[in-house]
Formats: sequence, C-alpha cells, structure tokens
Amino acid sequence: MKSFSLLDAARLTSPNPLSLVCSRTPSGGVNLATVSWWTYMSLEPEIIGFAMMKTSYTGELVRGGSEVVLTIPGKALAKQVMQCGTVSGRNRDKARDFAVELKTLPDCDIQIPVHSVVALHCALREFVDVGDHYLYICDVKQAYGDENEVPLFAWKGYAKIAGARPE
Ligand SMILES: Cc1cc2nc3c(=O)[nH]c(=O)nc-3n(C[C@H](O)[C@H](O)[C@H](O)COP(=O)(O)O)c2cc1C
Repeated sequence: MKSFSLLDAARLTSPNPLSLVCSRTPSGGVNLATVSWWTYMSLEPEIIGFAMMKTSYTGELVRGGSEVVLTIPGKALAKQVMQCGTVSGRNRDKARDFAVELKTLPDCDIQIPVHSVVALHCALREFVDVGDHYLYICDVKQAYGDENEVPLFAWKGYAKIAGARPE
C-alpha cells in the first residue's frame, strides 16, 4: 500500500455520503451547506454527527440556534448541492440564488429543499473541537423519508455529485 493523505483516501472510498445541512438564519431564512462528513452515531437514543470547518457559517448558526435539519439530497438537486458547497451563506441567500425550492416540516421552523430523500430534524447535543473542524453531535428529534427520491453521493473525492451508480 502507498502512503496517502486523508483526501486521497476519500477519493478511493468514493462514493462518499452527502448531505445538505439546513440551518436557520437570523432573518428567518435558511442556509444550505453541503456536508459529506456526516454519520449515524447511536440508535438509542437516536444521534447523528457531522463535521464542519470552524469557519463555516452553518457552524456559527447551529452553535447559536441549537436546532438543525440534516437532509439527504435527491437526484434533482445535484447542481445545487455543488453550488451550496462552494460558497458560504454568510453574505448571500443560497436557496434564493441557486433556485432551491423549499418546503416545511411539521413543528420545525427550518425549511428544507423539495426533493430531499431523508430529513433529520435535530437538536444540538454538543460540539467537539476536532482540529480544523467542529464535530456537531445532535439528537434526532424526528426523522422523515421519501422512498420515491434517489439519493446523491460524492464521487472522485468531492469533485462530482451523482447517484450511487453514476451515469
Ligand atoms: C461535495 C462536497 C462535500 C463537502 N463536505 C464538507 C464537509 O463535510 N464539511 C465541511 O466543513 N465542508 C464541506 N464542504 C464545503 C462546504 O459546503 C463549504 O465550505 C460551504 O461554503 C459552507 O457553507 P456555509 O459557510 O454557508 O456553512 C463540502 C463541499 C462539497 C462540494
């Protein structure tokens, strides 16, 4: 075996998981950020985690607001997932600028994209300092799913977005 960086390893493990993390902005809108580093962590209680760069706007919003919805984007969102992963929402409204149609979940004031496969409405339990990222550990308040949507994954490391079987 060759010596590899973690980013090289991520290329070899493609396709990697993919999510759009939805957080509430101070003006009542939603910020959307593409996050590959998320995982299921516990079933009883139901806990998930995701890691984001310390500088991300999403992280700031989640640390300040305590609730977040982690969604798994369906195939119709491939273009927007890449766009939401290349610019920060600190100074722009990504949902509006990238024409992401939004919908609401019951008892949740954070909107999510139409064409989500899964939505995990979560409350922040704690965040942990992990090098250049924070790991956000979240209790799942309610999970939702749509079996008609086909999930997207990150390919070639994080350079391409496609289904589990790329065309
Ligand atoms: C395919 C893909 C996967 C990504 N995965 C992550 C990730 O796991 N963690 C992270 O911090 N940023 C990740 N990013 C980058 C963020 O989405 C990007 O920094 C974004 O601008 C953050 O937005 P925000 O500042 O509005 O939160 C990924 C980007 C792409 C395109």
